[in-house]
Amino acid sequence: MSAKLIKGTEIREEILNEIIEEVKQIKEKYGVVPGLVTILVGENPASISYVTLKIKTAHRVGFKEVQDSQSPDLSEEDLLALIEKYNNDDSINGILVQLPLPKHINEKKILNAIDPDKDVDGFHPVNVGRLMIGGDEVRFPPCTPAGIQEMIVRAGVETSGAETVVVGRSNIVGKPIANMMLQKARGANSTVTVVHTRTRDMAEHCKRADILIVAAGVPDLVKPEWIKPGACVIDVGVNRVGEKISEKTGKKIAILKGDVDFDKAKEIAGSITPVPGGVGPMTITMLMKNTLNSLKFKLGIR
Ligand code: GUN
Repeated sequence: MSAKLIKGTEIREEILNEIIEEVKQIKEKYGVVPGLVTILVGENPASISYVTLKIKTAHRVGFKEVQDSQSPDLSEEDLLALIEKYNNDDSINGILVQLPLPKHINEKKILNAIDPDKDVDGFHPVNVGRLMIGGDEVRFPPCTPAGIQEMIVRAGVETSGAETVVVGRSNIVGKPIANMMLQKARGANSTVTVVHTRTRDMAEHCKRADILIVAAGVPDLVKPEWIKPGACVIDVGVNRVGEKISEKTGKKIAILKGDVDFDKAKEIAGSITPVPGGVGPMTITMLMKNTLNSLKFKLGIR
């Protein structure tokens, strides 16, 4: 193995410890802590486990945390009223509505009803616009792209002037990370290319990348020969390719694979994120950071 492993699990601990320290200081000085509410509609098992982890992490870093679980037949009108309640609640700095929502609810309408200054997911059009403008305008970068950028910076990878190639153009990862990497800012200043399903020669673009960010959702899409020797490879893919029995718990668990052929890629790349344990743990970490920053904006200390 020649590449340095960029471990999300380790970087998560560093950042959560920084947040714990800041929360303590703010509590001492201002007598308040950040408040996060997660709203879950229905009983989707994956959503329940995500929300549980978000709330557990919020508790760990010293936030006020509220888990608001609602029945799967909650009406759109009642969900809008619930969001309005939290928009007006001074003790809440971050509102997260867990996606996907049941089919009878219009997701866009719900996300647009969240106060942009409490939209810690960064999905509201106002925050998408703020991110595009960059600089002081940015309030809440979406959590997965924010985690990716933080990993690149903390791994000591030079981004300024680098060729960054993003594979995938989703609203949650591809488009925002491409936008963030080209800003005139720390951990950015890259020359960015975005490739997608209609790109004529994906391999040729990837071969140029000093930083290759892959968020396509296709296992082993990126072949080892597409990787420039020494490149930084960030694999956002989490693909379930089978099941196995966990050695630790004896229970059935999913076998996960990234979008990059890791075993071969690690012999060529300069640094690379594993799957699992790479980008995954960073998303909830950056949700905590956004919630802390929301309170800091309100207190005028950021
Ligand atoms: N469902 C899966 N990922 C996410 C996320 O990052 N935010 C929200 N709100 N729902 C999700």
